Amino acid sequence: MINEFRPGQIWLDTEDNPINAHGGGILHHEGIYYWYGECRPEGPSNLDARIGVSCYKSADLLNWENLGVALFVVHDDPSHPLTSGCKIERPKVLFNAATKTFVMWWHHDLKGWGHAGAYAGVAVADRPEGPFSFIEILKPCGRMARDCTLFQDTDGVASFIYASDDNANLCIHRLGDDYRKPTNIVMQAFPGRFMEAPCVFKHDGRYFFLGSDCTGWTPNEARSASAPTIFGPWKELGNPGLGEGADTTWGGQSTFVLPVAGKPGAFIFMADIWKPENLAGSRHVWLPLFFKKSPAGFIRPHVRWFERWTLSIFDQPESLR
Ligand code: GAL
Repeated sequence: MINEFRPGQIWLDTEDNPINAHGGGILHHEGIYYWYGECRPEGPSNLDARIGVSCYKSADLLNWENLGVALFVVHDDPSHPLTSGCKIERPKVLFNAATKTFVMWWHHDLKGWGHAGAYAGVAVADRPEGPFSFIEILKPCGRMARDCTLFQDTDGVASFIYASDDNANLCIHRLGDDYRKPTNIVMQAFPGRFMEAPCVFKHDGRYFFLGSDCTGWTPNEARSASAPTIFGPWKELGNPGLGEGADTTWGGQSTFVLPVAGKPGAFIFMADIWKPENLAGSRHVWLPLFFKKSPAGFIRPHVRWFERWTLSIFDQPESLR
């Protein structure tokens, strides 16, 4: 049994294999957490998708059971967008209560195109672990889509958030009621700021953004912002990281901010320490995220390094954290 988070260390699943879910995100559904991520093959530099999207489940966020591949690449049809050798990055999943389906979105690129195509991929399943059925790849309202995330608001309205326009602008795009298509409601946040690795979450009625600069696999300083509505106006709040290592996000790049179920105000910052020479060996960094009021009166998210920690950290008085 694993009984504490150890950011940056090898994290074994319940079968003692390193968790292979990178650039991922988490869905909390009926009391269980599902972790989806890029399932990378072992071995020297293989930047293309050869397996697909993995899915793990956990009740305590520490011990994860591998449920297998939720979305498979296609091995027998070179003309299929999911053909082995395409790119599947940063998959995220939401549950749509009206259709009772699980809807996955990710950044897709066609085999042999590098990141030039910049599509979003969409797939659906009727069980959290899949298998997910591919629907399509698309460009939301004709726009490029790269690093991405999904956000489901408290009223069930969902948005797809993605780096567009060759990464220059971040788009926040409202999805239709079944979460399968973008609507034509879209806004450009952070124009010209080249925000990547987007994460969006809501606390106390306010919307927060965490992301990174655009430096490929090389780590950089994380960024944060907040807004009164999902469509802004977004105000940048600087690096949420505090202390030693925060200038490179402790070697990582954000991938998701997870609200801890049953603990209002408790969030976990999730990041990847990328190992491009063997992406399967990329490490996971999970750290507690706290909020503090700045002297100017803004509520800011803060993350700092802990060698080891448990969820009880959220029960401690602020002065002891
Ligand atoms: C990063 C991006 C990753 C991956 C990588 C490839 O900027 O966040 O998801 O696409 O570039 O260089």
